[in-house]
Amino acid sequence: MKILVVGGGGREHAIIKKLKENPAVEVIYALPGNGGIARDAVCVDISATDIAGIVRFAVENAVDYAVVAPDDPLVLGCVDALEEKGIPCFGPRANAAIIEGSKVFSKNLMKKYGIPTAAYETFDDMAAALAYLDTVDAPIVVKADGLALGKGVIIAQTREEARDAVTAMMQDGKFGKSGEKIVIEEFLTGPEVSVLSFTDGETVVPMVSSMDHKRAGDNDTGLNTGGMGTVAPNPYYTKETADRCMREIFLPTIRAMKQEGRTFKGCLYFGLMLTPKGPRVIEYNCRFGDPETQVVLPLLKSDLLTVMQAVTGGTLRDTPVEFSDACAACVIMASRGYPVAYEKGYEITIPDAVWPHVYVAGAKEKDGRLLTSGGRVLGVTAVRPNLKDALAESYALVAQIHFDNAYCRRDIGQRALQAGEM
Ligand code: AMP
Ligand code: GLY
Repeated sequence: MKILVVGGGGREHAIIKKLKENPAVEVIYALPGNGGIARDAVCVDISATDIAGIVRFAVENAVDYAVVAPDDPLVLGCVDALEEKGIPCFGPRANAAIIEGSKVFSKNLMKKYGIPTAAYETFDDMAAALAYLDTVDAPIVVKADGLALGKGVIIAQTREEARDAVTAMMQDGKFGKSGEKIVIEEFLTGPEVSVLSFTDGETVVPMVSSMDHKRAGDNDTGLNTGGMGTVAPNPYYTKETADRCMREIFLPTIRAMKQEGRTFKGCLYFGLMLTPKGPRVIEYNCRFGDPETQVVLPLLKSDLLTVMQAVTGGTLRDTPVEFSDACAACVIMASRGYPVAYEKGYEITIPDAVWPHVYVAGAKEKDGRLLTSGGRVLGVTAVRPNLKDALAESYALVAQIHFDNAYCRRDIGQRALQAGEM
C-alpha cells in the first residue's frame, strides 16, 4: 500500500513510525515531512496547507490511503478534497473539524447538548465584550474563536488584563480573523488530562490518557509552548473518571456531532480539566495532539493502519484497539530561547541506537547532515513498566543527543510521579 501523511512534525513522525510496522505498507509519503522524518518516509516538498498540491500528488502517485494530521489542512477541507478523488482518508471533513476550528461553535455545541464545560459568553462586538467584563470576577479566560497556534487563550489575572486581551484580539487584530469573534469564560482549576480517541462517528474508543507540559520552564513557569513533554497514562485519570467521561462527555459529543449533520471520523482529542465539580471540557482538537501522540502511539499494541481503516470504514465497533499497560515518557529537546527567539542551523547528532526513540519536529537535512530548523527540535520517548523508569530512560537517551543551544525541561513527569504516589 502507498500511504500519504500530511504534516511535518513530531506527531507525524510518531504516526509514520507506527504505520510502518504494518508489512502491507510499501511506501509512506510525508508532505512536507522534515529532515528526520526522511529516515522513515519519502518527504515531498508540498506544504500541509496546499490542498490542491496535496490532492494532485495523491492522484498522480496512486496513493491508497491518506492520513491528514494537522489542524489547518483539516479545517481547510483536505479530507473532503481527497475523498472527492476517491482516496480514503483518516481525519474529519471540514464540517466536523470545525469542533477545533471555531471555539464559538464548540462552546455552543456543548451548551446545546449539556456537555460539561466552563460557563461562557461569546461576542462579535467589542463594546459588548468589554461591558461584560465588568460583570465577572478575575481570573478571566479570553479565547480567540479560530485557530491561533495554541496562543489564542489568555488567562487574565485582572479585569484590566482581560480588557487588554479583548482589545488586542478584536481591535488590533492580533490573531487576524481568528480573533474577530471571542469567547469569555469562567476560570476552572484542577489537573488537566489529554484523552485522544478514535471515532468513526458512532463508536468512540479512548486511547490511553496523557499529560502535557505546556510551559517552557521547570515547575510550570515561563511562556506557553506547543508542549515540552508528555507522559502516559495520566495518574489523575482514574477508571472512575474515565467511565464518567465516557458517559458525560465522549459519547454525548460524538452523538451531538452526528445529530448536527457533522459526523466526526478520525482522532478526536478531548482536553479535559478534572475540577472539584467533575470533569469539564477545556477544548476539543480535531486531530492527534503533539506531543501526546509521541507517548500514546508507542503504547498502542494494535496495528495502527488497521484501526485507522476501521475508522474510515465505520467498523470501529468490531475492531480491537489494545494498549499496553506500561508507561511512556517523552522529553522535548528545544532550541534555547523557544518559544520566543532562537537560533537555527545547528548540527544534530543522534547515535543509531537512540534513533528508534526519536521523533523529529524541527530539523532539515543538508549535505547528509541533520540541522536544527525549529523551536521544538525533537522528542525522545521511552517505554517502561513504570513511569519512574520511563522518565529515567528518556533523560538518559536525551543525554546522548547533541546540538548546540539544546534545551529541555528537567522536570517532565514529576507531578505525575507525585500524583501516582498519592
Ligand atoms: P486551550 O488552547 O483551549 O487548550 O487553552 C490553553 C490552556 O489554557 C489550557 O491547557 C489550560 O491550561 C488553560 N485554560 C483554558 N481554558 C481554561 C479555563 N476555562 N480555566 C482555566 N484554564 C484554562
Ligand atoms: N499538545 C496540545 C495540542 O496538541 O494541542
